[in-house]
Amino acid sequence: MFAVPASSPSGRQAYAVRRLALTAFRSYPALTLETDARPVWLAGENGAGKTNILEAISLLSPGRGLRGAALVESARRMPGEAEPKTPWAVAARVEGPDGSFDIGTGLQPQPDGRLTEKRAAHINGAPAPASAALGETCRVVWLTPAMDRLFLESPGGRRRFLDRLTLAFEPGHGRVASAYERATRERMKLLKDGGEATWLTAIEAQMAASGVALANARARTAERLKADLAPLTGAFPQGLIAITGSFEETRMPGDEGEARFREMLARRRRADAEAGRSLYGPHTADLAVTHLGRGRPAAECSTGEQKALLIGLVLAAARAQAREPAGAAPLLLLDEIAAHLDAVRRAALFDEIAAIGAQAWMTGTDSSLFAEMGPRGQGFYVTNGALNPI
Ligand SMILES: Nc1ncnc2c1ncn2[C@@H]1O[C@H](COP(=O)(O)OP(=O)(O)OP(=O)(O)O)[C@@H](O)[C@H]1O
Ligand SMILES: [Mg+2]
Repeated sequence: MFAVPASSPSGRQAYAVRRLALTAFRSYPALTLETDARPVWLAGENGAGKTNILEAISLLSPGRGLRGAALVESARRMPGEAEPKTPWAVAARVEGPDGSFDIGTGLQPQPDGRLTEKRAAHINGAPAPASAALGETCRVVWLTPAMDRLFLESPGGRRRFLDRLTLAFEPGHGRVASAYERATRERMKLLKDGGEATWLTAIEAQMAASGVALANARARTAERLKADLAPLTGAFPQGLIAITGSFEETRMPGDEGEARFREMLARRRRADAEAGRSLYGPHTADLAVTHLGRGRPAAECSTGEQKALLIGLVLAAARAQAREPAGAAPLLLLDEIAAHLDAVRRAALFDEIAAIGAQAWMTGTDSSLFAEMGPRGQGFYVTNGALNPI
């Protein structure tokens, strides 16, 4: 047996999946997997089902998981079958700084058996509200090939990335973000329907309170990342990050900020009604990343440099989380990570993961990509819906 590293530099148990069971989840009719706390790598041909495993783990946290797909899409369908028949379920034993938890989540069928976006969650056998409870129990951060264009595409993806990192620091962030979205939608509806001013004022107060809380939480993430951006090995470039946008650049701290946001909303009613959407607020923010070594915005960097910047950011977030007063390294889901990196950077990535003490889940088509992990990791070959230890 190899020694199990398992804990963050803080000495607290890093988040680690010790057991995973999938039912009717994408390509898997049923699967059970036992793992120790070391990083995991999955090798296998294209279409073998590697990303599906990472997606299942990502659904142990709130939201739609690393594919961002509708929840019903993950339900196993046979070729040619339009509607899935069986709800998917993911069950896991997850260790973390607060102990070991059995987490179960899956689609909750309607009383008539229909599958919708309704999701159920259980923690240690007791029903739990999916969004809040999952975020408290399991912290997950991911990087996928779909995020390679993060710096080139619209700000929405960058906001989601920032919010996902924030959620791993502050599980309450999801609730605040939903409250802000809901209030923004309700205000828009009132503006369209010509609602009463008193209602508008009340809903704008909610929008201002949740919007300021949302922006503050993102700003705290940016601060934490700044403090942890210097990478261990220098293999990944240092990024300088800033939250930008008209709201961010004009907002004031504290109670004054909330009052000012309320005033701005009241003043902008007509403009927002004409535009058909709310034009000012933290939902328009962007995450600006600069490659410090090159002195250039990320979007102007080479494809490889952009990927390295993203990896650097995710590792910085994991390091910062491990150092939080009651924190621990999150689960890191790094899909197709090894393929993009040359041998030196790959080795550096494995060293960083080992130093952080995180249980990273990595995928690649070839097991040789993970040779440098050696006994620091555990490998599985994925084929025909089964995972065989390597
Ligand atoms: N809802 C579903 N029901 C059944 N099978 C599905 C469903 N969704 C996806 N699949 C199948 O899952 C298979 C494996 O997908 P996955 O993305 O995990 O492969 P992978 O090993 O990551 O491949 P690659 O190396 O190309 O990234 C695909 O063949 C796909 O058709
Ligand atoms: Mg894949």
